[in-house]
Amino acid sequence: MELPFKIVVKSEEETEQVAKQFADILEAGNIIALNGNLGSGKTFFVKAISNYWNYNDANSPTFSIVNEYLCDKKIYHFDFYRLNKIEELYDIGFEEYLMDDEAVTFIEWAEMIPEILPSTYYEIKIVRLNDSERSIEILLNRS
Ligand SMILES: Nc1ncnc2c1ncn2[C@@H]1O[C@H](COP(=O)(O)OP(=O)(O)OP(=O)(O)O)[C@@H](O)[C@H]1O
Ligand SMILES: [Mg+2]
Repeated sequence: MELPFKIVVKSEEETEQVAKQFADILEAGNIIALNGNLGSGKTFFVKAISNYWNYNDANSPTFSIVNEYLCDKKIYHFDFYRLNKIEELYDIGFEEYLMDDEAVTFIEWAEMIPEILPSTYYEIKIVRLNDSERSIEILLNRS
């Protein structure tokens, strides 16, 4: 996959294909911010990648803030949606998760606390067009 990447997909299967192509460029230590409205498909995208890496029980970490999956890769799956303040992230040791360069870290709703992101990260922007269609944009941010 060449970045920046942008596509309109018409089905869940097409989203899964995009997720697999993106997964193939990821390396341990990468951070991926997923932004997009409620129900746009952020969790679906992370599940598609974790399935591809042979983890079949990924779930939304909305209430737990973070889930950890051990499979072909080590995955941290965050969701910032229910966070009230940045201190809650420090309380669960967010910085140690970020520093773990053996893990690939996905963050749903990263835009809610953008100041916590490292200087280099992938960003996935998903827009729900209708029941089955999504616009998916993937960028590499470097600052
Ligand atoms: N082309 C598609 N790609 C991804 N998901 C799709 C597609 N078409 C339909 N869906 C459905 O859209 C829903 C996306 O829900 P999901 O929980 O992944 O959203 P989310 O962005 O994580 O929401 P939240 O902000 O609540 O965490 C799923 O029910 C999925 O089956
Ligand atoms: Mg979600």
